[in-house]
Amino acid sequence: MDIAPTPAQRVPPQFVPPAGSLDLLVSATTAGLAEDAPHAATLPPEAYTSQAFYDLEIERIFKQDWFSLGHIAQIPNVGDYFTFDYLNELLVIVRGEDRVRVMSRICLHRWAPVATGCGNAKRFSCPFHKWTYDLDGQLLGAPLMDEAADFDAKDWKLPELRSEVVDGIIFATLSPSIDSIGERLAGWSAKMAPHRLADLKIGYSFEVILNFNWKIAAETFAECYHHIGAHRETLEPRYPATLSWCEGARGQGWTECHQDLRPNMPAEGGNVIGLPLLPGIADMNKTGFDMYILFPATLVSINRERLNVTALTPLGPNKTRWSRHVMVSPECLDLPDYEEKIAALKGKGDAIFQEDIAVNEMQQIGAASSLAPIGRLSHLEHTVWYLANYVREKMA
Ligand code: FES
Ligand SMILES: [Fe+2]
Repeated sequence: MDIAPTPAQRVPPQFVPPAGSLDLLVSATTAGLAEDAPHAATLPPEAYTSQAFYDLEIERIFKQDWFSLGHIAQIPNVGDYFTFDYLNELLVIVRGEDRVRVMSRICLHRWAPVATGCGNAKRFSCPFHKWTYDLDGQLLGAPLMDEAADFDAKDWKLPELRSEVVDGIIFATLSPSIDSIGERLAGWSAKMAPHRLADLKIGYSFEVILNFNWKIAAETFAECYHHIGAHRETLEPRYPATLSWCEGARGQGWTECHQDLRPNMPAEGGNVIGLPLLPGIADMNKTGFDMYILFPATLVSINRERLNVTALTPLGPNKTRWSRHVMVSPECLDLPDYEEKIAALKGKGDAIFQEDIAVNEMQQIGAASSLAPIGRLSHLEHTVWYLANYVREKMA
């Protein structure tokens, strides 16, 4: 007797056997470039789990493109600095007399880091043998080196990475030749102009290591389709998935998702706690929120009273560092109950973030299954498709 297979037993229509080699996986990845929006589909699940694919992403994306490190509000005064690790590079970002620099913080003597954490410095002094550097990286002094032949401190300077500040966000690149990130993001900057990103202040910051691929973190950040599942009790009642939409264009440096508030709901409530609004929000009568992926891995979201800037740093196929600054209007600092309000904001934000982490950790496990298919995408998650196309183009 024939028994019709249950849906769970059917082979998914987009099922493709695991590639088994990096070449086949790259071919399966780039094949998706042929699809148009109505046929939008995910990358092969192996692109989220394969060490070889991850290594290729590091070479072709993360060592070639721009990455963000933070916001200029972290370093408002001359001598202010913070540290940031990217791939194998240990960096220090410092405001000098003239400009912001992103430099290696590895001592030129025997490679100890000359700065840790964040703070304010007049110069950087290596803890190992006390070589000392100016804020622009120039070696100022190296004790007891007078018998070293042909050694002159003037000849030594900490390597500096190309960097640009775009709307207050600090970007750097390991590439000597890639085009300006400011030019690439000019259209995005025009959208941001009313919100005066460069003037915002840090409400709070946090860093966490996620147990899933960097693309999973970016994708979930940038679509609201999952409100109907992962956030059905928190976000969906106010921000229903059906009132979100995606935008993007092939070759553009970013993709965006927008979310409207459910009609007849008050603008405040849920995770909007009633801080002074970000610049421009009232003029635009904006009650929903906006999310942007600045390719590859900078995430920006704007939600009435806060602007989140997040840098994703890949640490492995299933490990990603999430570094977020929650920015608020400068007026917030004058509130008598500022600390309480920021604590409330953090509490609400953390709860929703945990809902995302829970599904994303399961998704990472699912992606390793040999039965996981290339998935089809809703029009509500075309941001996922635009990010996939960015990856496809870089891997092609
Ligand atoms: S390693 Fe820095 S002074 Fe020796
Ligand atoms: Fe989410």
